[in-house]
Amino acid sequence: MDIDTFERYIERRGTSSEKWEKYAGRDVLPFWVADMDLPTAPFVIDAARQRLDHPILGYTATPPAVVEAFVGWLQRRYGWQVDEQWLVWIPGVVPGLNFAARALVGQGEELIIPVPVYPPFLKVPGTSGLRGVVSPLLRDGPLWRMDFDALRQQISSQTAAVLFCNPQNPTGRMYDRAELAQLAQLVVANDTVVVSDEIHCPLVLDRRCRHMPIASLDAAIAAHSISLFAPTKAYNFPGLGCAVAVIPDTCLRERFLNASVGFASSLSPLAYAAAAAAFNDVSNWLDAQNAYLAGNAARLLAALDDIEGIETTPVQGTYLAWLDLSALRLADPAACFEAHGLGLSDGVEFGAPGFLRFNFGCPRSLLEQGIHRLRQAASELADS
Ligand SMILES: Cc1ncc(COP(=O)(O)O)c(C=O)c1O
Repeated sequence: MDIDTFERYIERRGTSSEKWEKYAGRDVLPFWVADMDLPTAPFVIDAARQRLDHPILGYTATPPAVVEAFVGWLQRRYGWQVDEQWLVWIPGVVPGLNFAARALVGQGEELIIPVPVYPPFLKVPGTSGLRGVVSPLLRDGPLWRMDFDALRQQISSQTAAVLFCNPQNPTGRMYDRAELAQLAQLVVANDTVVVSDEIHCPLVLDRRCRHMPIASLDAAIAAHSISLFAPTKAYNFPGLGCAVAVIPDTCLRERFLNASVGFASSLSPLAYAAAAAAFNDVSNWLDAQNAYLAGNAARLLAALDDIEGIETTPVQGTYLAWLDLSALRLADPAACFEAHGLGLSDGVEFGAPGFLRFNFGCPRSLLEQGIHRLRQAASELADS
């Protein structure tokens, strides 16, 4: 795979890109929403184009080819053999989080949500009527970890589910087997459910880490799990909308399906075609993209090393860096950095004031401009 594939700057202004439209007409570079400025995988584009050769884009039943591709992908990448019956195709992971919570109303009254986390997690209590209980992650040297002492106090028969995110957005943490086993043990012992968002799992930047679906650990946690996957982040086609829930327990799966009736439209034929191509991929494309992203992460972290007032932690997975600006003591860091030409995600929305999230899924040239602005902004804001 040629590095020029990823180096090429692709103009997105004028394409109604949410990421770029937010700052239309302003000199603000967008490093916010988790959508990359790198090209969608070429085999994904080819598959969508091929589907367009047929002149009708009607309502589409789940094609057996996409099911087979996904089952094969889980087996090949994670050694997890799932039954086709366990799968529920849904238009997105966020709807999946909400269907899961609605399915669990009555099972308990609370949702435990480790924070900081991708903002839609924090809205799930509101859509389900369940009570949200946040469980702060701990910063342990260079890594963010689950606080298992706190979790042990919080989890109970009142817990409808733990909303889990691995690889973790925004911290970029990939939990190891021991941590997953500890969470699984707590979930099973309390007869609750883990809803595990694993959308970022192909995006492994630290080659010492290996993603493990929590439900693949053993049959007990599988029976207490709803796992959410999607090809849209790693292969970069979030705009097509495609995700799949893996729910081994029949009763839980029925409840999930019932909770989604009337709320989920069918997936588009282009989404299915694109997903099948992504899940069937055995080329070196993903490795090459991950290596490019790891290079971006290294460049950003090296630059941050000598920018005073901003701290961060290594990114094991995702293309997101979680920046701690608390030393700068700014009332509204996102607004301050925006005023300096940087569109970043506001930590407040992730349950963490004083932090910003930086999406480095872009060509290096754009990242360099972002780093330049970050350096200038930090220096001016520290002096103000
Ligand atoms: C952790 C996580 N889950 C879910 C999503 C969104 O998924 P979808 O577009 O399939 O709803 C994102 C997008 O940023 C994400 O980072």
